[in-house]
Amino acid sequence: MPSKITYECIECGASYLKWQGQCDQCSAWNSLEPITVTKKNAKSIETVTTVTKLINVTEPDTESFKTGFIELDRVLGSGWVHGSVNLICGEPGIGKSTLVLQSLLRCNITDEPTLYITAEESTIQVKQRAKRLTNEISDQLLISSATEMETIVDIIQKERPKIVILDSIQMVISQTLSSMPGSLNQVRLCASLFIKAVKDIGAVGILVGHITKDGHLAGPKMLEHMVDVILFFEGERTMSVRMLRSLKNRYGTTNETGIFRMKGDGLQEITSSNNLISDINKEPLSGAVITFILSGTRGMLVELQSLVVQVSYEHTKRTFVGIDSHRAHLMIAILDKFFNLKLSFKDIFISLVGGLKTQLPDIDLTICFSIWSSHYVRPLPKQLVVIGEVGLTGEILPIANLDRYISSMELMGIKTCILPAGNKDEWESKRDIKPIFVENIFSAHEAFNQLCINVPIRQISKIESN
Ligand code: TYD
Ligand code: MG
Repeated sequence: MPSKITYECIECGASYLKWQGQCDQCSAWNSLEPITVTKKNAKSIETVTTVTKLINVTEPDTESFKTGFIELDRVLGSGWVHGSVNLICGEPGIGKSTLVLQSLLRCNITDEPTLYITAEESTIQVKQRAKRLTNEISDQLLISSATEMETIVDIIQKERPKIVILDSIQMVISQTLSSMPGSLNQVRLCASLFIKAVKDIGAVGILVGHITKDGHLAGPKMLEHMVDVILFFEGERTMSVRMLRSLKNRYGTTNETGIFRMKGDGLQEITSSNNLISDINKEPLSGAVITFILSGTRGMLVELQSLVVQVSYEHTKRTFVGIDSHRAHLMIAILDKFFNLKLSFKDIFISLVGGLKTQLPDIDLTICFSIWSSHYVRPLPKQLVVIGEVGLTGEILPIANLDRYISSMELMGIKTCILPAGNKDEWESKRDIKPIFVENIFSAHEAFNQLCINVPIRQISKIESN
């Protein structure tokens, strides 16, 4: 069979006859990989396809399996859908293997087999992990450490499991290709063999994929089209909170976020107000402000902290964790302009506590309050939440979905809330929360001063030096 080499972009999948440094389609640099194409004899191409009447296609009894996690069910829509292929991606060490194994241990399929293919870790390592995660391992849970895709397909066809996990797609190889595991060709071929095998038996397929430092999965675009659901597992590795978002979901919305905490005995979901990320009853210190973040149908109270420090050198530092750095820079510029805080001579560090991340402009005003609080060394009262988008002119812009914000905050015991004046009309009088509506950055500053008046300044006591 004659074969020739073409080049394909790992970012967008565009193909070229010759290698070049930059992809013309997506402008990515150094993204072309050689691919050996084998020309098949026309006669050898399989042309037989089976045709069935649509009304005769049999559907499975129930539409989906519960995943064993309320958070994961919500992000997926209803659970693992029969015949679907789900890709879970994230940085190495974030907890992908733990999440999928824990779901398999909890999903309560006791009468039919489920299969975990562990191409990265040994079966012993998975057993040790499973023992930490549960007291009882179902005797229907099968495990294999096969790394060759053809063998894996054979196992799937023979065992006919209800759920198959392949951990990870970058570690398996097909013998028909000479390239290394994890290369574009291998990932593409192995994923398509896996998807076909899973769909043929109507099982749930779960693929685990690592992303690179710059946030890319090997061959992201092509896998995006091949799978039904893409979940992204993220968080600061040094902190315990993990967030699960869906980037694509054929069976539900992509707005939901699932929140987990990595503990010694696996992932624990953060579902109720008892498990808040910030403690609303603790006396705040200067620089700390509580805000409310809405993601999909759930909301969370989160603490934002700032540290503003006067320095004597010229090049000041700006460090932002968990927030959109562009918006943070904007807020600093706005405060400098309207209040002459001389922030350009100060180091500013801002962080969303607990490893959470948000890109929403709704926390603009929270950033301002937090900077003021650190700059003036004035703590704010407890049980206070600050929300609002700040425009470049200094006006406070209304937020969407106020109803959902307020009812969730009431449940969580918040007493006072700083809100944009534009949301006043939506406010119902019979509320447990006292609203303070602010129109612009000056009325917000006044509200800040009023709130701080009776709050004693608390400092963490100094460590005595010997
Ligand atoms: P892992 O699921 O192996 O991550 P990934 O598959 O994404 O590479 O888990 C990553 C980390 O989680 C690992 O450093 C150990 C930690 N961990 C816990 O803290 N508790 C646990 O119960 C488990 C299983 C792992
Ligand atoms: Mg893993």
